[in-house]
Amino acid sequence: MIQINAPQIGKEEIEAVIKVMKSGALTHGLGAGPMVTEFEKSFAKFVKAKHAIAMNTGTAALHSSLVAAGVKHGDEVILPSFTFVATAEVVVMIGAKPVFADIDSITYTISPKSVEKVITRKTKAIMPVDLYGLSADMQPIREIANEHGLKIIEDAAQAHGASYKGKPPGAFADAACWSFYGSKNMTTGEGGMITTNDDKIAETTRCMRSHGEKEKYMSGMLGHNYHMPEVEAAIGCVQLKKLPKFVARRSENAKKLSEKLKKSKSLQLPIVPDGYKHSWYLYTVRMKNAKKAQRDKVVESLKEKEIGAMICYVNPIHLMPFYAKYGKYKLSETEKASQQVLSLPVHPSVTGEQIDYIAKTVLNLLR
Ligand SMILES: Cc1ncc(COP(=O)(O)O)c(C=O)c1O
Repeated sequence: MIQINAPQIGKEEIEAVIKVMKSGALTHGLGAGPMVTEFEKSFAKFVKAKHAIAMNTGTAALHSSLVAAGVKHGDEVILPSFTFVATAEVVVMIGAKPVFADIDSITYTISPKSVEKVITRKTKAIMPVDLYGLSADMQPIREIANEHGLKIIEDAAQAHGASYKGKPPGAFADAACWSFYGSKNMTTGEGGMITTNDDKIAETTRCMRSHGEKEKYMSGMLGHNYHMPEVEAAIGCVQLKKLPKFVARRSENAKKLSEKLKKSKSLQLPIVPDGYKHSWYLYTVRMKNAKKAQRDKVVESLKEKEIGAMICYVNPIHLMPFYAKYGKYKLSETEKASQQVLSLPVHPSVTGEQIDYIAKTVLNLLR
């Protein structure tokens, strides 16, 4: 099976893990051990942010950032429904209400116009998602946020190596949240990071990850245990160095695949608008005019032919049983996309021959 994504682990990561294991320092009371601190410093530098705060998951990063942005029980937070459920879950964890906005039909990221339509007096924050590795359209979202006094927590879980108007994710947000889950462009197995230029968000999220403690046994706020283990941070340091090469390989594979798939009139290929750099976490095509059943059948057939195609996301969050209670929505672009998209493997270990095979198989199935 050609997997949709695969961790790229070499001997450098294995050596880094062994070194930490031998050091005896596996974690730290405030989640700020030497490897975590080194990883934070290099990640902050990579995304040109003042602070980076490592967490044990991307979900923990999102949760802590929302708390630090001042989102409280009863507030509303605007986000896309076309994303991984963690983006919505953290809003509910705080007792705030997720309010879903529609997406753009071409980029699949949150539509600034749709955001404007759902702002109320209770709105506190916007959570744009850099879906598939393509940044959300951050400038108009920043303008809307400024006009209404809202915070922006950018979900950059899929966007390591992406940029927008020449700047890395987070540049137009109050904080950006990253995931290092095993499938991501760079991984620590599980893991997360917050990047921010805001001193207060940095301080609060650091407390939040360690039981609300700025110093040991002196909790100043409700916190959690969101520590990133030292072993994971050591893997992260190595992966970050390799990330530009990983993204270049993904980009090369995406380009080759598009070159071959453009023969099909029934596919909408992924586009990269001017001023954007895609990180190609997922290469996603759309079967234009197809019904859900036709798309599902193509995905099944691809799997039978050992191609790990995936649907992200087959169920928009506003239609999931748990989330339906947060309101009745008609998000036409979200619902249409969820029925027509499918993602194909372009990760760094997919070979040129495999790209040929994937393209040929897709074109045959669409004939
Ligand atoms: C868009 C998005 N948000 C949030 C998350 C949550 O990250 P994690 O799995 O590290 O908790 C993920 C990925 O897993 C994601 O893809």
